[in-house]
Amino acid sequence: MTPTTLRATPTTVPDAVEFRKPQISDGVRLWEIAKDSQVLDVNSSYSYVLWCRDFQQTSIVSAIDGQVVGFVTGYVRPEAPTTLFVWQVAVDVAQRGQGLAGRMLSGLLDRLMWQGISTLETTISPDNTASIALFTSVATHRGLHISQRKLFSPNDFPDEHAAEDLYTIGPRHVS
Ligand SMILES: CC(C)(COP(=O)(O)OP(=O)(O)OC[C@H]1O[C@@H](n2cnc3c(N)ncnc32)[C@H](O)[C@@H]1OP(=O)(O)O)[C@@H](O)C(=O)NCCC(=O)NCCS
Repeated sequence: MTPTTLRATPTTVPDAVEFRKPQISDGVRLWEIAKDSQVLDVNSSYSYVLWCRDFQQTSIVSAIDGQVVGFVTGYVRPEAPTTLFVWQVAVDVAQRGQGLAGRMLSGLLDRLMWQGISTLETTISPDNTASIALFTSVATHRGLHISQRKLFSPNDFPDEHAAEDLYTIGPRHVS
């Protein structure tokens, strides 16, 4: 597999950011970035390593000087084969605010639209303003609609997990 390298715009992102599909050896960094975020659910290290093997095509990482600094993990919903579900997005705290998350999501959508993916779904906790801003920005920049509705309530979880709202981004209003 040939990695796709996009040169970054010097004023907004570091000089050279590589955007590519994850490899098994990236799983450790995905787990570390998720853990360090102190916001995301930290899943088992095994799940990140497995994801880097089985969902490479629907995931993307950004790397600077060979070091992975951000990732988007996603999968195509078996029940809705034109929908990419974005599971987690995270950027190393030192690299935030430079457009990396937005560029990873756009890069992933650019890659997948040729495979018939037309809709993006994700869930966001109501208090995660950064994530809401990120997905709203991606929809706006791509001229797509974004809608939101309740999906999972705290009662759906066995622990203290917050509610998760479903955000849908697509070419027309979808609810
Ligand atoms: C959310 C996160 C991935 C954003 O990464 P990032 O690389 O800093 O985001 P970008 O620079 O690409 O910003 C994209 C848009 O989101 C907005 N945004 C990003 N962080 C924001 C914040 N903390 N508050 C408000 N808006 C924010 C930016 O202004 C930008 O909008 P614009 O294009 O209209 O200017 C990052 O803050 C993070 O890793 N957070 C912890 C994990 C997390 O919450 N993940 C999301 C849930 S899965």
